Parts: sequence; structure tokens; C-alpha cells
Amino acid sequence: MAGVDEQDTSPMVAIRTQADFGALLERAMENEATQTAAEPAGGVDAAALLQDFSSPWVFSTVMPLLSVPTREAPSLPANAKASGAAGAREATAALGKKKKKGPQKGKQGRINRAAHKSIFRREKRAEERKICTPFEFKLKVRMAQRHGAPEPIRVDCRASEFRVNQNTYTAQPQAKIGKVPFSLQDLKKIRLKIVPWDGKIPMSALDIIETEMGYFVGQPQAPDWKQVILDAAEALEQVRVDSGFRPGQGKEGERGHFVAFSAGVTHSPQSNIQASAELREENMLTTRPQGPRYRENKPKEQEIIDRLLATPSIQRIATFGSRSLAYCAPKVYQHYAENLQPIYDDYGLKLLFQDSIFPSANFNLGPETACRIHVDCQNCPYGFCTITALGNYDPKKGGHLILWDFGFTIEFPPSSTILIPSACVRHGNVAIQPGEQRYSFTQYCPGPLIQWHRCGNRNVGELTAEEIIEIDGPKGARREKCRGLFSKYNELAEDQQKVWGRL
Ligand SMILES: [Fe+2]
Repeated sequence: MAGVDEQDTSPMVAIRTQADFGALLERAMENEATQTAAEPAGGVDAAALLQDFSSPWVFSTVMPLLSVPTREAPSLPANAKASGAAGAREATAALGKKKKKGPQKGKQGRINRAAHKSIFRREKRAEERKICTPFEFKLKVRMAQRHGAPEPIRVDCRASEFRVNQNTYTAQPQAKIGKVPFSLQDLKKIRLKIVPWDGKIPMSALDIIETEMGYFVGQPQAPDWKQVILDAAEALEQVRVDSGFRPGQGKEGERGHFVAFSAGVTHSPQSNIQASAELREENMLTTRPQGPRYRENKPKEQEIIDRLLATPSIQRIATFGSRSLAYCAPKVYQHYAENLQPIYDDYGLKLLFQDSIFPSANFNLGPETACRIHVDCQNCPYGFCTITALGNYDPKKGGHLILWDFGFTIEFPPSSTILIPSACVRHGNVAIQPGEQRYSFTQYCPGPLIQWHRCGNRNVGELTAEEIIEIDGPKGARREKCRGLFSKYNELAEDQQKVWGRL
């Protein structure tokens, strides 16, 4: 990562990075912890920072004033009922915390206006958080100028060459590579470049015209992030054991030898077309085909998924993934929000995670998760999925993310998050060492969901050629539009400004 001085002399527009943000977040949290009721120091708006990238859980920990007390107040000692300062001190001691500070008075005894303003702002932010869903979420970009650009990795692969299907709602299937995940020795044999990464310093993969095609986001530097990852890994391991599932069983069996569960909202036009045909045959097609719906799982699987969805550490990882998308690919986030919100409204669907824009997620429970090289061709082609790695593996020896079409492999340490266009870029993992554990959590947006909405809550098969042109334009037009959702390296700040408001 370039140093500050180097960034200052760079002709590129400076953009904020997750790691830098993490440092600010950490500092803000320290401030909050020591000054419970104090207003954030001028210049760094701690609450705004927290709102940007941390979860409500962090808020409730760091900003107790904003959370609703759930415990009963402890009873006061008898002498605390006495009036006066001594009584007050006793009462405060019994409650186990300092007396809450109100607005500070100036020399003349008048209440400080700035203190009043700060209380007002704090209350306003608390209100905003109550009503904020990923669809209304707005990234606060006022901190954006402070931070440097991610380190670029140039790749010989163009976003314009992605193999997409007609009108760019899904990508073309591609054959898996290798019968089992590659080992590090295999990669060395074929001389695939290996990029070292500490899982913290942000990097991005750029094509020849500097389109950002992959983000190696890293992790927030929240002091408890390590614990969050440990808790999540423990939860994943526990549900795998409780499920009794064996590696290779279930839906992910084709991609590798590990236990996996899928959850969320999806839409499969194929199944609807089949259903429609059957109903037509029986002359029973009186209602519209099913449309978007929750993934169907057996009751036992659903019970496991519900446990994972309710796990706070997994919720925080989901939030971080969603907000990373908002930061790194603002136009993609906006595209998801604009097309998904009507679906949720029309069909009365609930979000998979309260603070994540992604409608679907995969829990890869290992215990030795490593995928063969594949594409997820049903995902949005010019979209991003998030991958967060967990476990106790040595990232120098295994667990790398192979980006086959980018022509390199990158180390993928546990706790870190990566965003890739998984529909079009062939990807997989390096196998881990015997005795190690690796889990992963991914979030993504199925392309057919967006198509369903854009087709007016119909399958594309029900539309005439004229209607399709009306929706998506002439041949190739939508592809061009979708390509434009990816930001250019030196235009990200501008895109953030356009989507999220003035910097
Ligand atoms: Fe994948």
C-alpha cells in the first residue's frame, strides 16, 4: 500500500479504503468507550463512522445510550436514598456507572449550544438507524477524502469479455477445472502467479482499461473482529456437527468435498416455465407462475439455516459484506437496491439479514472447505458476491482464492473478505493442510430475480420480442449498461459521490 506522501502526490482521485476506515472505526470506538456520553471529537464523527460500517450490535455495545435497557435496575442500598451528594454517589456506585453527563454549562451557567446540537444529532442518528434497511441505506461519504486508493493488481482479462447470456441477467455455464481442488504444488507446477496478501491491506483487480473487477477488501479493524470471526466459525462448526451431514452431501457436493447450505430469496424461471407447461396441459393455469420465493429446504436443513441466520457474529459479517459492496461498487449496490426492493415489497418477502442488500447466502461448513474451479453462472454477471473466509488454516499453505480468468491466485487469510464477479470469473480454492479447518460465508444476488422485476413480474418467456426490446433495448444495449455498473479505478470517488451524495 502506498504511503500517505505517495498518495498525496498521486494524480489519482483519492478514495477511502476499508482498512483505513477500520483504523478510524477503532479509534472512534476507543473514544466512545472512555467517554460514554461525550460527543465525538470534532473532525471525526464517531457515530457516523459506526453507522457506516459497523452493525447495530456494535452500536449497542459502544453506544449504550442508544440502546433500550433490558435489565432491571439494581436495588439501591438503604443509605443511597438519602438526599444530597453522598446519596447520589451511593446510588451511582450501586448502578455501577458514572452519573450521565448532560449538556455542559458554560462559565455563565448557560447551557452550551454545541452540546445541545450534539444531543440532537445523536438522537436523529438513532432514529435514522431504526428505520434504515439496506434499501434505504446511504453510505456517508464525507470521510472519503481522507483515505488512499487500494493497491492495484493488473490482470489480462477484460470485463467486456465476460461470457454472459442474452440481455446479461445470467452468465454462461463453464466447465469445472480439476476433479478436486488444486494444491499449492499444482499451482506452482502450472506457474500460476501467487499474490501474497495479509487479509488487511485493500487491493483491487483492474483490467486493461482500469475497470475494477475484484476487491480484496480485508477486514474492519474493530477490536472485536477476531472474536466475531471465531464465534462465527464456532457456530458453523457446531451446526455442521449437529446436522449430521457428511462432506460432499447436499447441494455443494459438485464443487467440493464439504457440507454447505443455501438460504435466501431466489427465482428459477426454468421451474416456473415447467410448472406453467404442466398447468397448461391440465388447463389449470389460472394464476401467474410462482415468481421469487425463499429457497426450499427440508425442515431439518431449514432449522440449521435459521440458527445460522440468527447468529450475531454471522449477521455482522453479512453487514460488513454488504457495506463493502456499497463502498467498493456503489453503482452495483444501487442497481441491486432499485431492482430488489420492489420484489420484496410485491411478494412480502423478508430480508435474509437485516443489514445486508444480498438476497441469498451460502454457508460452507467444511470442515475443509475448498472449491473446485467453477463459475456461479446464475448470479448477476456484472455484480459482485462477497466471500468471507473463516477457520484455523495457514493462508500461506492453503485456502488461497484462485482467480483463473484473472491469471493469479491470492492468499486468503481467515477473517478477510473478498468481492468478485463470481458469475463470470472462474474461481476456486487451494486445498488446506490436513488437520486444519476452513469455512466460508458467501452472499450473492441471483440474476433471474432482477430479470423477473424488469420484466414486470413475469418470466421473460412470456414476453414478446417487442416487449423485451422495450425493456432492455436493442441487442447488446443492456450488456453495455451493466458493464457501466463497474467503477473505474480513478473514478470510484466520483461514483461514490453520484450514488451516495456530495463528498
Ligand atoms: Fe463460487
